[in-house]
Amino acid sequence: MGVRKFLALFLFFLSESSAQRPNIVFIVADDLGWNDVGFRNPDMKTPNIDKLATEGIIFENAYVQPLCSPSRTAFMSGMYPFHAGMQHRTVFPQQAVCVPLNYTFLPQELKNLGYATHMIGKWHLGFCKWECTPTYRGFDTYFGFYNAHEDYFNHTASSYGGLTSGTYLDYRDNKLPARNYSGEYSAFTFAQRAVDIINRHDVSQPLFMYLPYQNVHAPIEVPKKYEDMYPNVINEGRRKFSGMVSALDEAVGNVTQALKDRGLFENTLILFTADNGGPIEWYANNWPLRGGKHTIWEGGTRGTSFMYGAGLKKTRTTYDGMIHAVDWKHTLVSAAGGTQETTIDGMSHWDSISNGLPSKRTEFIYNIDDFEVPDEGHAGIRVGDYKLILGFPGGPDGWHRPMNRTQDDIYEETVYTTGDEPVHLFNIREDPTEHNDLAQQMPDMVAYLRARFEDYKKTMVPANFPNPDPASDPRKFGNAWSPGWC
Ligand SMILES: *[C@@H]1O[C@H](CO)[C@@H](O)[C@H](O)[C@H]1NC(C)=O
Ligand SMILES: *[C@@H]1O[C@H](CO)[C@@H](O)[C@H](O)[C@H]1NC(C)=O
Ligand SMILES: *[C@@H]1O[C@H](CO)[C@@H](O)[C@H](O)[C@H]1NC(C)=O
Ligand SMILES: *[C@@H]1O[C@H](CO)[C@@H](O)[C@H](O)[C@H]1NC(C)=O
Ligand SMILES: *[C@@H]1O[C@H](CO)[C@@H](O)[C@H](O)[C@H]1NC(C)=O
Repeated sequence: MGVRKFLALFLFFLSESSAQRPNIVFIVADDLGWNDVGFRNPDMKTPNIDKLATEGIIFENAYVQPLCSPSRTAFMSGMYPFHAGMQHRTVFPQQAVCVPLNYTFLPQELKNLGYATHMIGKWHLGFCKWECTPTYRGFDTYFGFYNAHEDYFNHTASSYGGLTSGTYLDYRDNKLPARNYSGEYSAFTFAQRAVDIINRHDVSQPLFMYLPYQNVHAPIEVPKKYEDMYPNVINEGRRKFSGMVSALDEAVGNVTQALKDRGLFENTLILFTADNGGPIEWYANNWPLRGGKHTIWEGGTRGTSFMYGAGLKKTRTTYDGMIHAVDWKHTLVSAAGGTQETTIDGMSHWDSISNGLPSKRTEFIYNIDDFEVPDEGHAGIRVGDYKLILGFPGGPDGWHRPMNRTQDDIYEETVYTTGDEPVHLFNIREDPTEHNDLAQQMPDMVAYLRARFEDYKKTMVPANFPNPDPASDPRKFGNAWSPGWC
């Protein structure tokens, strides 16, 4: 057989087999709390999300990191942030930091399986050089912003914690600054871009879309129409926040509708997850869990998450197996029919989830961050039913009902007090809300978990958290946050 004919045959088989691979849509909701969705909290209006969640499988124990760059590192690389130097806070705009370039990202794996790969939304994994950015790390196309947060309408970000004053554009269409979207709320732009991609997609190829929305991260901004959906919420911040959740829900609805219209929905697998617990100080809510974003309490680390669609055997509505953010990459590659090297951190739960089997994960690290202890570092481990927290768990602490009347609703209970070397132990299966500290009662269990923790800590890479670099100044790049300075 001639090379050309062989190649044609090979490509034919490749396209035949890849045609059967599921389309994958991976949606990340930024800063969405445990109790900020309709399927948990009837005050929230999220019909599209609720339908997918309740017709799919809701994860009761899917863990994320307490903050966004660390969680996104885990989503894309399948590695713990403490192995990548990404465990401390997040990437600030003027820091010359990105996830190590030798890590293979999820879209690169899926591209190898024949997928078209698209990303729309928030990156936050570093952008100081092009090699760090989405279209160099596996995405065919990209529309979105590089940093943590910005204005939802004018798409400019300040250098928070950096050297430059003023706000500069952080919005990009592939590699070009997208300057003509001022005034358009990002959820509309992102949903419309996703719909356009779906409409243009060559259906002989499997589709992967990574949709990390800006909603519902601060600043608290939403078109009035969505705020008006919550006339019973007296607190203005919570009312607007709730509207932001509903705008996100509508965007999810528009994307699923486009998949249906194009005949792709039946063969699509959707993974939805928050990147961390909800920030209580920004009106999110994690009731009845303890703490929120920035903490390694359950309220900061148990993500609202579910899967819907192709390949799932619907035998239950919830899955209580232990899952960590580092596992999603492996799990989605398995769902796509791929095999991949088992890295030291992530594992695939595809077989367990799709067939309702127990999780293979028995332990995980909440975080290991010894930078700036005691105020900022977090250290915690889960082994079986037990969770050990060493040192400061992060704040705010406490159990908070959704805000309604006044801003004061939020700080009703603050429980944590600093000690010399605070140690907390909880049985999370029996006490998921962390009311009953067992550290005094169970010193052997504390010693056992501490020893496991120390084993992991030996493998920690120091946090990469440099001072801001003046070379990043957006004024040198046409007033836009841009790559090209590291
Ligand atoms: C990436 O490079 C670092 C530094 O050389 C090394 O320690 C690490 O093991 C590498 N990781 C991978 C996934 O190749
Ligand atoms: C964008 O909006 C923010 C408020 O969220 C404001 O501070 C900033 O000046 C605006 N920037 C531009 C370029 O309009
Ligand atoms: C912005 O400009 C691009 C490139 O010309 C165009 O494709 C896009 O439709 C424009 N978007 C808006 C909202 O004007
Ligand atoms: C969803 O689609 C409808 C109909 O095209 C549109 O009016 C609405 O603005 C879209 N919403 C979002 C959040 O994209
Ligand atoms: C907020 O408080 C008001 C006044 O007490 C009450 O009528 C309303 O139902 C509450 N709303 C929510 C969402 O709890």
